[in-house]
Amino acid sequence: MRPKVVVNVAMSADGKIALADKTEVKISGEEDFARVHELRNEVDAILVGIGTVIADDPKLTVKDRFVKDPKHPLKVVLDSKGKTPKNSRLFDEGKYLIATTLDRSDPNWIKCGNGKSVDLNILMKELQERGVKQLLVEGGGEVIYSFFEEGLVDEFYVYVGSMMIGGKNAPTPADGEGTKSIDEIRGLQLISYTPMDDGILLKYRVKKID
Ligand SMILES: NC(=O)c1ccc[n+]([C@@H]2O[C@H](COP(=O)([O-])OP(=O)(O)OC[C@H]3O[C@@H](n4cnc5c(N)ncnc54)[C@H](OP(=O)(O)O)[C@@H]3O)[C@@H](O)[C@H]2O)c1
Repeated sequence: MRPKVVVNVAMSADGKIALADKTEVKISGEEDFARVHELRNEVDAILVGIGTVIADDPKLTVKDRFVKDPKHPLKVVLDSKGKTPKNSRLFDEGKYLIATTLDRSDPNWIKCGNGKSVDLNILMKELQERGVKQLLVEGGGEVIYSFFEEGLVDEFYVYVGSMMIGGKNAPTPADGEGTKSIDEIRGLQLISYTPMDDGILLKYRVKKID
């Protein structure tokens, strides 16, 4: 069975996840950060796209300020063309995997198809073989949209912060090309809504297509 996929993202009240130039924005507060670090500690792997690595340089670790004895899940980056900077903070500690379409002899790099971007279904098989049962996808918008497009998302968590970012080019939780026909719109079932910091956390289950 493929890993269970949970997407977690924070957006402004107008549905943006960063500034138009991709500058990272602190959208939630301490309570939500604690929740995200607890969630990271519950999964086997955390995944982001190269766009997020370049924009935010995330560490993708579980901070012991939020979780006692963190277990440090595997970090996974989607990077078809090998653009991950060598000094990225994700290399500082813990295990990582770069999913690419290049041939590399390094065991930390895995080739997932010959297309122009990483084949997510091949990646899911590779992760499954490595014992990943739960995968947390943290962004950005292009990557999240691809997971939805492939029908690979089980749950979608979105923190809505009380702020307005604006800008038609600012990234949103699901960018990419977008749904092309009304029949293809993915239904979501609201599981919970929880006020947190000065915003609200919405949790959805993704409805299966018959
Ligand atoms: N608020 C939040 O919760 C949050 C969380 C994370 C990120 N962000 C923001 O999101 C922005 C980055 O998002 P982004 O959409 O530009 O980049 P992204 O989704 O992080 O990365 C997209 C890139 O991943 C690579 N990729 C490889 N295989 C892919 C596949 N199958 N599907 C999709 N992408 C694939 C592609 O580059 P190659 O073709 O070169 O491989 C693609 O351009 C930043 O501004 C960051 O601050 C916000």
